[in-house]
Amino acid sequence: MSQKLVFRLAFLLSLLVEFSTAQSKKFVCSYSPSKAAPIGYQPEFIPLEVCPYVIFKAFSFPSVVGRQMLFNDNDKLAFSHLVSSVRKRSSTARVVASIDGSGRELTITSSSSVRRKALAQAVITLLLELDADAVELNWQSPGNSHAGSGSANDRITMVQLLQDLRQAVNAASKSIQNRQRELWFRVSLHPNVIETAYNILDVCELVDHITLDPITVHLLESAHAPLRGEPLVVPKHYDMPTIVIEPGTGFNTTTQHWIDEGCAPKKLLFGVGLYGVKKVYSPSKYVSDSIHIRSATPSYLEHYEVCKEVREAGWNHSWDEHGAMPYVSKALPSGKVERISYENLDSLRLKMDMVEQKRFGGIYIDFVHWDDIYGSCGQPYSLTVYLANRLRSIPSDIGFAIEWNQ
Ligand SMILES: *[C@@H]1O[C@H](CO)[C@@H](O)[C@H](O)[C@H]1NC(C)=O
Ligand SMILES: *[C@@H]1O[C@H](CO)[C@@H](O)[C@H](O)[C@H]1NC(C)=O
Repeated sequence: MSQKLVFRLAFLLSLLVEFSTAQSKKFVCSYSPSKAAPIGYQPEFIPLEVCPYVIFKAFSFPSVVGRQMLFNDNDKLAFSHLVSSVRKRSSTARVVASIDGSGRELTITSSSSVRRKALAQAVITLLLELDADAVELNWQSPGNSHAGSGSANDRITMVQLLQDLRQAVNAASKSIQNRQRELWFRVSLHPNVIETAYNILDVCELVDHITLDPITVHLLESAHAPLRGEPLVVPKHYDMPTIVIEPGTGFNTTTQHWIDEGCAPKKLLFGVGLYGVKKVYSPSKYVSDSIHIRSATPSYLEHYEVCKEVREAGWNHSWDEHGAMPYVSKALPSGKVERISYENLDSLRLKMDMVEQKRFGGIYIDFVHWDDIYGSCGQPYSLTVYLANRLRSIPSDIGFAIEWNQ
């Protein structure tokens, strides 16, 4: 072999090794003790061979005591239980501590430098005392217009808060050799929130991962986790042609917004909900059904419930063309209609096509214990296993780069 070829092979191999660890897609499983306990699901049951990352959902927002902010003791206990169960079984699995906060709590905290420092200090406790590998802050309704419930200044103070949290996470990483800690940030996919409230460029720069929460759009469309929104059709009027407006509510559009505004796709983790949404609505001849469906009160069904329910007799099975999701419906004796929008392998395959096409860094699922854990509808954990395998089969981005160069 010529020296030149050897050199080039060595170089390529080093690239492949580096990129295969740095750029493999992340598969993340959420776990909620309060939702898992009623069905007797323990942290010990989480299949770590499929779930190399587990998000603990969630710490309630810490309460203010003097100049300090303190997390709730029960949350700390539940989190420690998860961490010790994970550490016992795996030396590589990572645990992410998620922190919930209302629009108001986050507005107040982020707008005062004393409060920001106090939250950063509380985050250090999570990392060093409770041994979290990463912290995720969940801020879903910033801003004060449309879907936001905070203040117009959130766009600015959010960046200041994330700067303080970044410093805290870096300090914690330095304090123990070879323990890199991460900062994650969970955001809304509601089109109105995205437009006004997130300074996407700065936010993405400051955090290791952005988790894109699908639950924030469940009331916008007939399908609860739509790939595309249902076009609004303005009918032909005199010599004006029919106008079709793409509503921009589907995930294919709202997630693209984060990329177009300058967020590196590999930082984005797309959320997949393992649940269905049931609605009962009154159909009417005069207004389109989809409006009634959207405004009806939703109730949520875990996948292990939904998969059984949709197999029962009496349902009409259909496919929501725009949302790219299945649903079942039936007429009730009252004249109302009951409808359940849910996920199956067909809708998840289309969502994963999008994950692959947009080259996201990976996905997270809500919640691993909402899958068909006992195998009542087939193989246990069928959706989780499908998603993890599909993610693993996506060629790494270096593969794309080589193809492109040829
Ligand atoms: C998603 O949007 C991209 C353009 O951003 C388009 O090429 C692709 O076909 C869309 N996918 C679906 C499923 O609509
Ligand atoms: C199922 O759909 C068909 C055709 O749309 C309709 O005629 C029938 O009444 C529906 N059945 C139920 C149970 O809703």
